[in-house]
Amino acid sequence: MTPTVCIVGAGSSGVTTAKALLERGVSFDCFELGSAIGGMWRYENDNGLSSAYRSLHIDSSRRNLGYSDFPIPEHLPDYLSHGQVLEYLEAYAGQFGVLRHVTFRTGVTRLAPSAAGGWNVTLTTGETREYRNVVVANGHLWDPRMPDFPGRFDGVQMHAHHYRRPEPFEGKDVLVVGIGNSAVDIAVDLCRSARSVALSTRRGAWIVPKYIMGIPTDRWSAFLGRKLRLPTVVTRTIISRLMRLTVGNQERFGVPRPAHPIWREHATVSQDLLPYLGHGWIRMKRNVSALDGDRVRFEDGSVEPFDAIVYATGYRTTFPFIDRSIFEVRDGEASLYRRMLPPDRPGLYFAGLVQPIGPTIPLVEIQGRWIAGAIAGTMALPGRETMQREIVRNREALARRYLDSPRYTLEVDFRDYARQLRGDMERGRAAA
Ligand SMILES: Cc1cc2nc3c(=O)[nH]c(=O)nc-3n(C[C@H](O)[C@H](O)[C@H](O)COP(=O)(O)OP(=O)(O)OC[C@H]3O[C@@H](n4cnc5c(N)ncnc54)[C@H](O)[C@@H]3O)c2cc1C
Ligand SMILES: NC(=O)c1ccc[n+]([C@@H]2O[C@H](COP(=O)([O-])OP(=O)(O)OC[C@H]3O[C@@H](n4cnc5c(N)ncnc54)[C@H](OP(=O)(O)O)[C@@H]3O)[C@@H](O)[C@H]2O)c1
Repeated sequence: MTPTVCIVGAGSSGVTTAKALLERGVSFDCFELGSAIGGMWRYENDNGLSSAYRSLHIDSSRRNLGYSDFPIPEHLPDYLSHGQVLEYLEAYAGQFGVLRHVTFRTGVTRLAPSAAGGWNVTLTTGETREYRNVVVANGHLWDPRMPDFPGRFDGVQMHAHHYRRPEPFEGKDVLVVGIGNSAVDIAVDLCRSARSVALSTRRGAWIVPKYIMGIPTDRWSAFLGRKLRLPTVVTRTIISRLMRLTVGNQERFGVPRPAHPIWREHATVSQDLLPYLGHGWIRMKRNVSALDGDRVRFEDGSVEPFDAIVYATGYRTTFPFIDRSIFEVRDGEASLYRRMLPPDRPGLYFAGLVQPIGPTIPLVEIQGRWIAGAIAGTMALPGRETMQREIVRNREALARRYLDSPRYTLEVDFRDYARQLRGDMERGRAAA
């Protein structure tokens, strides 16, 4: 049978979508730029796109990270290393027979609508194939978003995407910009061998410890919400109180207090940041106002010399193989029904284009099943107008709930979104 579906990318999102299609008996081709599966979890991936650094460990704990029907083995630690996540993904792909459907070292260079109403997919081999449906799962955390601070810096500058290990920074004065998970992980990684490490941020972030009373922090939410079935608002209040007891007042350490409650912002997960600030191994700085040769000016008027700057300023969501007139994600605007379908482009789906508060991998597993249901015809899709209305409603809800920052363009609340997708599948009809 000639496959009617093409999947672009064999990271955790492409692989779980492939598995869902296999389970529905839908044939597909999956093209992967690199020579193996795993995407960003493959450290130094030969696709050249992985943002993993040597010290990377997950920020969602083991029991919450895995796919629903393939638990992460209990003997693995609470917070897996990137290598352990990769082994898990390889085992999953092997178990469900995905690997033999992936063509490795073959990138998609162009995706364009075909005359017959499908999609022409051009490959790095030069060949173009036509499919009725394409699932784009190329990852959205690889294209560095760089700030444009005025002035010029003469030292080493790099984006977190290119950061691997602390050794090149030994004995140096390093500035890390941002307060997301990358910035804090990298500052923590650097601070024992660099001469000094400063962390500069333009706003506060809730610093969430990996453990509360010896239990992984996200297990508390699961216990209170799913096991005890407490309403979300009660769960959140209890977690906030527990965190307050564990962390105390983060402003004491110089980390600005965020403007919103914890569930309206991306928390930064770190067991180490606050104690390391307490040791003086990391210092907090305000936002950069200008670069000036070997020195950096900050918004509080202070000026300090640095040897290197690591910009942990997040990623742009881009699709080098799709013309922007066909589809693009702009800051604050991803026009996707259910965060997966551009209404004007039938047959085009995006998997993994979400930024959940909570783990990504099991959420994209649900997306994969949803996409497979839509393609196999077991779940009906609404018309274009309904899709447009849902997109507008979602955009308004995002604007009300989260900060006005590009970081929140793909934001979803894990529980609400998962419930919505499961509801669609159970009804056999995706709703408004
Ligand atoms: C540093 C870091 C830490 C993270 N930690 C966590 C965590 O603890 N918990 C969590 O849930 N999430 C975490 N994430 C989010 C993580 O990105 C997701 O969990 C998820 O693994 C992303 O999978 P993906 O398949 O969507 O993308 P990727 O893993 O990026 O895979 C995309 C794949 O598509 C391929 N590809 C790209 N372009 C093409 C093309 N043109 N043709 C063919 N193939 C192509 C790539 O080679 C790659 O294999 C982290 C992200 C980063 C950057
Ligand atoms: N251990 C882990 O599991 C781990 C490690 C790393 C990353 N990740 C995940 O990977 C994803 C990306 O994380 P990330 O930390 O790389 O990016 P991110 O979450 O997008 O954070 C980017 C940071 O840079 C700041 N920033 C952006 N542009 C700026 C500018 N022009 N000037 C000053 N500051 C600017 C942002 O501030 P604003 O909020 O003000 O925009 C934010 O603090 C997230 O999902 C994260 O959870 C996980």
